[in-house]
Amino acid sequence: MKYLIVSDIHSNREALSAVLSFVKRKPWDKAVFLGDLVGYGANPNQTVDMLRSLKPLVAIRGNHDKVCSGLEDGELFNRMALEAAMWTRRKLTRTNLKWLRALPEGPAVVDGAFAISHGTPIDEDAYIFGEIEALNVFRQTSFPVCFFGHSHFPVIFALSPDAITTILSVVPLFLLKLKPGVRYLINPGSVGQPRDGNPLCSFAIYDSESRTVSIHRQSYPLRRTQEKILKAGLPRPLADRLALGR
Ligand SMILES: [Fe+2]
Repeated sequence: MKYLIVSDIHSNREALSAVLSFVKRKPWDKAVFLGDLVGYGANPNQTVDMLRSLKPLVAIRGNHDKVCSGLEDGELFNRMALEAAMWTRRKLTRTNLKWLRALPEGPAVVDGAFAISHGTPIDEDAYIFGEIEALNVFRQTSFPVCFFGHSHFPVIFALSPDAITTILSVVPLFLLKLKPGVRYLINPGSVGQPRDGNPLCSFAIYDSESRTVSIHRQSYPLRRTQEKILKAGLPRPLADRLALGR
């Protein structure tokens, strides 16, 4: 089975659209979403509609989905994130608000093949930035393979019996065959707001039969996306950061 794994789309319709155009040329079977569908970008409803039309096998919520849909008040958000979340809450249709509110909390197990979480499988709002956080997650869980999001940074942590290693993908198409006896925490990166210094949108395909993960980077109409953010009256840095990939 080939799973299309997308995370942190953040109302970026152009980026999700580019991912879908790209994967039209690649065979995949089921879509899986790791949270943060909305917040920051200018097209929350179109993005929700687009993801829903994919009929994802499993979709879980992210911290922005909770605040934008009114489940949480966003007291931990910075000023810009909160302003964008309140704007998004006002723009979302009743149907889409309801759909976002109903997204389940992670972790979730997909087809018995792998787990997914937004932040970590222990705390949906916590980040995995480096090996110390990854090691703590490995020690407190038993998933052989878990895909996570939230940091907007494509990275793979691998735990073998004697060491933990970090694998950073730095090419537009990165391929990794998972090894037996090694556990993995894998971030496919962010579709709508990458933060690894590379503005190309990021997503993964996992082939559970060959146990191969590919992380893809894809361009999208960046200028148009930025113009929409500014036209919507959202904070300018939310548009600027897309070009910087951070
Ligand atoms: Fe996010």
